[in-house]
Amino acid sequence: MKFKIAVSVAFVTSGLPFCLAWGDMGHQTVAYIASNFVTTPTKTHFQKILGDTTTDYLAAVATYADTYRYTSAGLYSRPYHFIDAQDNPPSSCGVDYSRDCGKGGCVVSAIKNYTSRVQSTTLSTANVAQAAKMIVHFVGDIHQPLHDENLDVGGNDIDVTFNGVSTNLHHIWDTNMPEMYTGGSTISTAKTWATTLTKAINTGTYSSDAAGWLTGIDITDPVATSMLWAQDSNAFVCTTVMPDGVSVLENEDLSGDYYTSAMPVIEEQIAKAGYRLAAWLNLIATGSTGL
Ligand SMILES: *[C@@H]1O[C@H](CO)[C@@H](O)[C@H](O)[C@H]1NC(C)=O
Ligand SMILES: [Zn+2]
Repeated sequence: MKFKIAVSVAFVTSGLPFCLAWGDMGHQTVAYIASNFVTTPTKTHFQKILGDTTTDYLAAVATYADTYRYTSAGLYSRPYHFIDAQDNPPSSCGVDYSRDCGKGGCVVSAIKNYTSRVQSTTLSTANVAQAAKMIVHFVGDIHQPLHDENLDVGGNDIDVTFNGVSTNLHHIWDTNMPEMYTGGSTISTAKTWATTLTKAINTGTYSSDAAGWLTGIDITDPVATSMLWAQDSNAFVCTTVMPDGVSVLENEDLSGDYYTSAMPVIEEQIAKAGYRLAAWLNLIATGSTGL
């Protein structure tokens, strides 16, 4: 999903929040789920890196990368939030690292870069902390199917309405649908949703799938690992995001049947992102997934 220059410039100058990633609440939910699955040594390790001994140490930094991208110092990081799969949904989906990760980098190269930096013994404390914040955010982003799709700027150019409000397909996946489902948009909404999803992973809907979510995870190969996550997420573009193509969605209100069919995928992707983030942080801190 590329940015339009005009849009980003407007942002830099206005400083207004503009969500083009799971909304803040989605990212915070992913972070809280991860907090619920990291081991005690991992928690201590990252609390120290982030200089925060509260239980919110991951959720508090989950949206840092979305703020940073709109600062002049952070402009270079804009492509790190997505990978532009040049596939052909709905007839064929697929991500190819060499084809789709642009020259300026992508979410997959970013996960690689910050996984290496967070383990550095020579970078400054601030740089290591930044790397941890980036990982928490980008493992979230890669699980939003439209962050793994090039078509129509990752759905940003597909105009739709949601409960009568004009918006676009990307935005309803990031924000409108999660907020309608949870009935909120705050960090406390995120904490509550994370508690529900943690239970679903431990003993509910996802308990038989969770182990499979870690298939192929390899801390020595962040590109291969995050490409698995990107492929998995991108496949939903063909099956759920636009199973009948773009034209049937354009200018439609998607808060009815579309929402009903999308929501289980959103919920699963948020749960998966949190679980995989916990495993990744455990691997960084302790060398084992701990799960
Ligand atoms: C890695 O991250 C640093 C800090 O954000 C950035 O300056 C550098 O360009 C990144 N390198 C790559 C290859 O993404
Ligand atoms: Zn993002």
